[in-house]
Amino acid sequence: MYRIVAKERLAYKHTLFTVEAPDIAAKARPGQFLIVVPKEGGERVPLSLCAYDQEAGTVSFAFHEVGRTTKELGTLQEGEGLFNVTGPLGNPSEVRRYGRVLCIGGGIMIAPALLQARALKEAGNEVITILACRSAEFLFKREEAERVSDRVLIASDDGTVGERGLDFLTDLLAKDRIDRCTVIGPVVMMKRVCELTRPFAVPTIVSLTPIMIDGMGMCGACRVTVGDRMLFGCVDGPEFDGHRTNFDELIKRQRSMLPEERLSSMLWEHKGGCACGRR
Ligand code: FES
Repeated sequence: MYRIVAKERLAYKHTLFTVEAPDIAAKARPGQFLIVVPKEGGERVPLSLCAYDQEAGTVSFAFHEVGRTTKELGTLQEGEGLFNVTGPLGNPSEVRRYGRVLCIGGGIMIAPALLQARALKEAGNEVITILACRSAEFLFKREEAERVSDRVLIASDDGTVGERGLDFLTDLLAKDRIDRCTVIGPVVMMKRVCELTRPFAVPTIVSLTPIMIDGMGMCGACRVTVGDRMLFGCVDGPEFDGHRTNFDELIKRQRSMLPEERLSSMLWEHKGGCACGRR
């Protein structure tokens, strides 16, 4: 069992767990991910690494409680255990001194984006971090972003905080020389960022978490087309050249299991899964 040592509510249905996993913490690097199984026989969920502490022997990951397994995770409390955590999986981010770097995190992925921002800052880059959220109530970790960045910009879908949408990037890119952009968040957001950076030829790295099963290159569930190559999100990624990623295919593949996911979530709720008052 992997004991939950801290549970942090980031926003409504946005939660961060820190769990005891010394063997994983010892090898973890920014950009990698974990596969979490809350209960025996449960679904394997890939979740991006948000932090690791080698001394304390802990790793942190954040999740949005949207599907059955993430809702189930959200009912667990500090002191309880997870059946399994596998990792670190995937390749670490390439962290070098690029110059001025844009680091964009969207939704729940703001949390892992800050791990990347910190690493890029420590490597000597000027880091501009953009926190993108649905609305003001879903903005979190702003102070942490300010600590690990030279500049922090905010964007929201509805304009209740910061800029409305991400189109302001065009002005930013036209004004400031940006040497590299890293983006992690919903696929449609990453696609949009790539459309905006492409005319400026800013190398743009996206972090993908397609549907995964084993996370070790055996099942092929995480296939993603990058340029003319079919790659595996788990062992070839999770980071890819965003300008060469086939997002439309990825979105289609991600939506292919939506009816089953909705049904599974509804059945779990029907059985009283999230009505247990353990929040
Ligand atoms: S998750 Fe099975 S090959 Fe990547």
